[in-house]
Amino acid sequence: MPASSSGSPRVSKGVTFNVRITPLLTRGLLQRMEKPFRRRDLLGIRSLSAAEINGILDTADNFLEINSREIKKVPTLRGKTVINLFFENSTRTRTSFELAAKRLSADAVNISISSSSVSKGETLLDTALNLDAMQPDCIVVRHSSAGVPHQLAKVSKAAIVNAGDGANEHPTQALLDAMTIREHKKKIKGLNVAIVGDIIHSRVARSNIHLLTKLGARVKVAGPGTLVPKDFEHLIDGNSDMRKPAREQGRSTQLDDNALADARASATNRPQLEVCAHVEDAIRDADVVMILRIQRERQDSAYFPTLREYSIHYGLTNDRLNLAKKDAIVLHPGPMNRGIEIASDVADSSRSLILDQVKYGVTVRMAVLYLATGGSMGNA
Ligand code: CP
Repeated sequence: MPASSSGSPRVSKGVTFNVRITPLLTRGLLQRMEKPFRRRDLLGIRSLSAAEINGILDTADNFLEINSREIKKVPTLRGKTVINLFFENSTRTRTSFELAAKRLSADAVNISISSSSVSKGETLLDTALNLDAMQPDCIVVRHSSAGVPHQLAKVSKAAIVNAGDGANEHPTQALLDAMTIREHKKKIKGLNVAIVGDIIHSRVARSNIHLLTKLGARVKVAGPGTLVPKDFEHLIDGNSDMRKPAREQGRSTQLDDNALADARASATNRPQLEVCAHVEDAIRDADVVMILRIQRERQDSAYFPTLREYSIHYGLTNDRLNLAKKDAIVLHPGPMNRGIEIASDVADSSRSLILDQVKYGVTVRMAVLYLATGGSMGNA
């Protein structure tokens, strides 16, 4: 495990390079030798290539063992500073980013918005610029508006990591879900994945759809028609569907230009994404069943009659899970609404890997912080 002192890669905005050897190497040779993480910010999965996603997951694999040690600490990020800037509540993401930073010996600072100067009327941009002036190496940001991490990345010298922006993306959630699937299925390519629930409001669904289809899985989504519009199938084609939830809710729609360009470029590859009319059609023969939370905080009108009806028609029960393959696994990003989108006996069953997801969340975030602050994939 490399410490970040001697011969460490230096990072300038958007480019990772090794001071000693870069002038001697072509980019292709450098990539073969070191597989550098060439994007310093992690804003979403949409703009990543399959090779970059696999590189992050492989880097996380290298960190996995540290988390089972008695002393869970290595000096890899000694002297680095990570700021957690969360404008929305979080249990898993914020705690795991903090643990990830501390296990790599970085200094981790949590900004509580209720006790910060945001509550005195300071703008988001001013808050970010003031934090950036303290010269952190990485700012992890969660915000209820889509595009906030992308805006901060344009003005910040620190690497920006998106910890969830509105209904847009939650890239580290998709990465930890992929790590959970890889650990249990040993592959992602060719798997059938059902994603069930409140798709339209879900940044988890968007990031997972991008990741899973880039890595060759087939994804079926299902839920109430009001929460899973048929034209969601165009998400991967780079049309403007990603903007709809934010615009409908009057939020910022600023998205990463590179992400949109990448998505348009991939429009020729038809996505392996299907919207199913019935939840049973999505779950049948699935290798992975991913259940999403009903996001009442993002719903500004009634999308279904009652929670009881939702549970009856769309909730994951053992009967519905029996339609999936015998060795199917169940994922849920949390927090769970037990008895609504998932029955308690399913959530607590041996097929449920919900707590494994949380465990791998620390590991994936160690890898992301390591790469965002200048680490190279081949060295982790
Ligand atoms: N999955 C997830 O983002 O959980 P938190 O909201 O607790 O961070």
